[in-house]
Amino acid sequence: MKKLILLSSLLVITNFIKAEIKPCISINTDNVQLVLKVKEDGRLYQTYLGEKLNDKVNLNNLYMPRGTVSSVCTNGNEIYPVMGTEDYFDPALEVRHSDGNPTSFLKYDSHTEKSIEGGKETIIFLKDYLYPVNVNIHYVAYPEEDIIKQWTEIFHDESEPILLNRYASSMLYLESDDYYLTEFSGNWAKEMHMSESPLTYGKKVIDSKLGTRTAMLTQPFFELSLGNPIQENSGETILGTLGWTGNFSFTFEVDNNNQLRIISGINPSASAYLLEKGEKFVTPEFIFTFSPEGVGQASRNFQKWALKHSLYKGEEDRLTLLNNWENTFFDFDEEKLTELFGEAKDLGVDMFLLDDGWFGNQYPRSGDNAGLGDWEVTNSKLPNGIPYLVKKAKDTGVEFGIWIEPEMVNPKSELAEQHPEWIFKIPDREPYYFRNQLVLDLTNPEVQDFVFGIVDTLMTNNPGLNYFKWDCNSPITNIYSQYLKDRQGNLYVDYVRGLYNVLDRIKEKYPDLEMMLCSGGGGRCDFEALKYFTEFWCSDNTDPIERLYIQWGFSQFMPSKSMCAHVTNWNKDASVKFRVDVAFPCKLGFDIDLKGMDKEDRQYCTNLVKEYNRLKPVIYSPDLYRLVSPYETKHCVLERVSETKDHAILAIYDMHPDFNEQLLPTRLQGLDPDAEYKIEEICLMPGEKSNFTFDGRVFSGDYLMKVGLNLIGGKDMDSHIVELTKI
Ligand code: DGJ
Repeated sequence: MKKLILLSSLLVITNFIKAEIKPCISINTDNVQLVLKVKEDGRLYQTYLGEKLNDKVNLNNLYMPRGTVSSVCTNGNEIYPVMGTEDYFDPALEVRHSDGNPTSFLKYDSHTEKSIEGGKETIIFLKDYLYPVNVNIHYVAYPEEDIIKQWTEIFHDESEPILLNRYASSMLYLESDDYYLTEFSGNWAKEMHMSESPLTYGKKVIDSKLGTRTAMLTQPFFELSLGNPIQENSGETILGTLGWTGNFSFTFEVDNNNQLRIISGINPSASAYLLEKGEKFVTPEFIFTFSPEGVGQASRNFQKWALKHSLYKGEEDRLTLLNNWENTFFDFDEEKLTELFGEAKDLGVDMFLLDDGWFGNQYPRSGDNAGLGDWEVTNSKLPNGIPYLVKKAKDTGVEFGIWIEPEMVNPKSELAEQHPEWIFKIPDREPYYFRNQLVLDLTNPEVQDFVFGIVDTLMTNNPGLNYFKWDCNSPITNIYSQYLKDRQGNLYVDYVRGLYNVLDRIKEKYPDLEMMLCSGGGGRCDFEALKYFTEFWCSDNTDPIERLYIQWGFSQFMPSKSMCAHVTNWNKDASVKFRVDVAFPCKLGFDIDLKGMDKEDRQYCTNLVKEYNRLKPVIYSPDLYRLVSPYETKHCVLERVSETKDHAILAIYDMHPDFNEQLLPTRLQGLDPDAEYKIEEICLMPGEKSNFTFDGRVFSGDYLMKVGLNLIGGKDMDSHIVELTKI
């Protein structure tokens, strides 16, 4: 009933604007504005993007580009430029019509505006006046979080299918003397490495062609600073990302007017899409924010928005866990697992997570070369099956979660023998194996049913199961689908749609289920996937020093409760405390042999889990202040402040300080200047006392933000957690 009332009130406030006079359309948040204008030629142009203008500005007076307009860009800044116009730079849309004509012109027809939950949606209807091709551009502006998202719908009424050679989600234009682009590249165990470079005339492309493990080499995020290299607390900064769990592409092109064009969307490479009459091609969402005060504010915008409007169960709690992967790898049995349930309970975590290696009978999964695809428990290893383990875990007092990799198959499996037609494989060619496995053809609805069935069967047989770790270790290899036949250009796109179809069904049937998105470490992480997953695995690299960089990278966009961080044995030169403290400000887990630890370390872990549970509200706050950067210093300091500013924590890491380094006080941020805060070092090793001179004392927010505290020190791999409580 409530829903109905809401829906009808939304309908009432929907405005439908038809184009008699040439309209000016403004997409606003509280602090950001994007202005679009229909010009005399009936086409739609961007005339402004930046800090919100005040009401006195006549938007009709805006024009862009403001520099000298050369003949190759006569009208400038069309919001969805099409191949075939006088704009000779990369277009957003390229259509080959059914008669073979590769050109189009899009004119403004009308637009609507309506309130939606948390924001306002504007839809602009564009049409080709020669061919029956329609393009609807959607914008949703979230005022409080200063986030705008944009996507496009393309459909047609031509007699035969049309071929979409390019189909961007969005095209944006910026004007500045200089542009600095930060990208997030890497590889397995090196995810999210940040690097910045200036953009000059010509193109820079950040893209992926890997399909499933799409972000293994580069992640679908970028940061752009106007005028100067990026700063944490100053400068005009744009952060952008694509919500798409497949091949993506961002093209940054500086044109002859020194204007920057950003095209974001699915990577059209090897993906010319055949679109049937009446079918609607919906592009992924391009999501961006603009901050006049540097990247710190932009990250807080993203984290706030993600928690409220994007991440699955964004405003709910998260489970701490003990995982067995790095402790046992494939070598476990029922006895070993039940013993680990007890250890999880003693540690105080909420859940035990059983990783890879529990399935396959004809081809048991005792290594990564067999069994994938055969989702039946290995009887010889676990004779009483998963139901027994779930019950036993619950009886011990912990929840039970389980690992799956449902999109993949080992050639050495019953599934591969029974359904070779379900696998991407090129006829008559030798297959290429990535981690000894192949990718299932999720463009095929039968395969979608099979993949849904894996989760469904496990859930039906084990209603007590409440967590999955969903892994995906291979990119799409052997790029050919038997199902798609002569529509191979649709493969990469339809694969992702097939995956979303499965995930939609899971979410609908099991809304309480929590899932971790994993892809051979952090090879898959985007905001569309995170509409289904409560969290993601950042990397298999848990060396605490290297992890600080990886977490620093993801924190640019992602809320802490979505970033799984586990304590392991990577880098045993670092103390257990240091390793635990690095995982502490994220979504905490352990993947380590607890019995192998000495008593004090184990006690530290148990105490820390208690502290973590107590401090979850502030750890999960979106208000992150990155105070000291590991990229610029030998230290890293992070501050999380509660939204009411009455509680904060500092996570302080001295990585590898220089000899006799000059150590200055660190100024805090985001506090209430008029409030008094009590400062205490917490999470100390058993029996240890704090050496900080400020420990136990009270300071005003003003003092802390203007004078600061001596937080960083000179000891190698040393860490501290400090709590601030408003009194
Ligand atoms: C890759 C993941 O990143 C690991 O955490 C682990 O689950 C393995 N796969 C299991 O094969």
